[in-house]
Amino acid sequence: MQFCPWWAWLSAIEVSNMKKKKKRLFQRLADRHRGEGVAPLCEHFGQCGGCMFQDIAYENQLLLKRDYVNGLFEGIAEVDSVQSSRPFRYRNRMDMVAAFGKKGLRKAGFYKFVVDIESCPLMQESSNEAFIDLREILQEVEDYDYLKHEGYFRYIVLRQAMFTGEVMANFVVSKRENRMEKLLEPFLHRVHSSSMILSDGLADLSFGEVFQTMKCGHITEEFDGIKYRITPNSFFQSNSEIAVQMYRRLKEHVQGKTLDLYSGVGSISLFVADAASHVTGVEVVKEAVETSYINKTINDIDNVDFICADALDYMKEHSEDFDSLILDPPRSGMHPKMIKQIRDMKLDKIIYMSCNPATCRDDIKALEDYRVESLEAFDMFPQTPHVESIAILRRK
Ligand SMILES: C[S@@+](CC[C@H](N)C(=O)[O-])C[C@H]1O[C@@H](n2cnc3c(N)ncnc32)[C@H](O)[C@@H]1O
Repeated sequence: MQFCPWWAWLSAIEVSNMKKKKKRLFQRLADRHRGEGVAPLCEHFGQCGGCMFQDIAYENQLLLKRDYVNGLFEGIAEVDSVQSSRPFRYRNRMDMVAAFGKKGLRKAGFYKFVVDIESCPLMQESSNEAFIDLREILQEVEDYDYLKHEGYFRYIVLRQAMFTGEVMANFVVSKRENRMEKLLEPFLHRVHSSSMILSDGLADLSFGEVFQTMKCGHITEEFDGIKYRITPNSFFQSNSEIAVQMYRRLKEHVQGKTLDLYSGVGSISLFVADAASHVTGVEVVKEAVETSYINKTINDIDNVDFICADALDYMKEHSEDFDSLILDPPRSGMHPKMIKQIRDMKLDKIIYMSCNPATCRDDIKALEDYRVESLEAFDMFPQTPHVESIAILRRK
């Protein structure tokens, strides 16, 4: 097997948007913390673009991420450690490409190549076993050449709710027809939900229109008694063990009338609802807001509402009269005009959850009248360079 070292992975297309400075920082930190290194668990490591740090002991990965976060936040705040996760078998979702006679993940750094994955140690047990079987069952189905835009079968998407164990298997195809129905009949008892998804455009998408529900159409995850319905296209946090710890931490800081900006499918709003007098979630994606309302209904929670709007537009009209503010923006962080709106709210405290500490740091710097009261880091994605954080900001 040709070995593609982690630093080559770093220069991969998948991370090409990683700023050069960040890349150099990660290189230095990985060298510092590799120690003697460990044998990668997965035979595809080095080729597959899914992991990067399997040759670094997990405790050292945590030190690496701690130093990375502290480097970014130097002079602003410091974390003592990074909250650990189970190092493998944590992922709630994996999108396996079907192309060029293979089923797997893209080769590190090469969008045009697919590594034929037999089994993935990041996936939870049941969804991984389902994937192993599906490779076999569906091997004769014509796959989709995403370079020539010819063919049929594009993705197998496996999702698993960690706390309920429910598994979903979806099949993304380029034509509104189900060529797999007969083949899948003996398999479907293995999963809670299974759907056919149409993705007929040139864009390489693993989501689209659900044109046939073969079984159920959703799975349910549960965090501390709050149920979340996960439908084929809906977003959900990738590591439930870490997500619930982060939500618990957010909840400790919530009180009164609460605004949850960038609310996704309403997961945070619903989780913190019993600590607040009322929660308003604001999210720009209509389907996500619809799912939020389903989640509100199945949990029978009254004091939460969801608004489908651009967060900045909402803030221009409604930023007054809130006691708590939760921010969980996309990786790109917040617009400078949003920073101004938030400063104008003059809240005592801001709760900022982030999947990108670099943009979080930039936003915090821009929120000039706030200081970081506490900063915590969480390892949502072991074996990869990603790290999540929660900052509690206090008005100076
Ligand atoms: C990091 S996710 C937050 C997910 C959610 N808080 C959760 O824990 O599941 C960021 C969310 O912001 C939404 N978003 C992106 N830009 C937005 C905007 N300008 N206004 C409102 N929502 C936006 C995205 O659709 C996405 O759901």
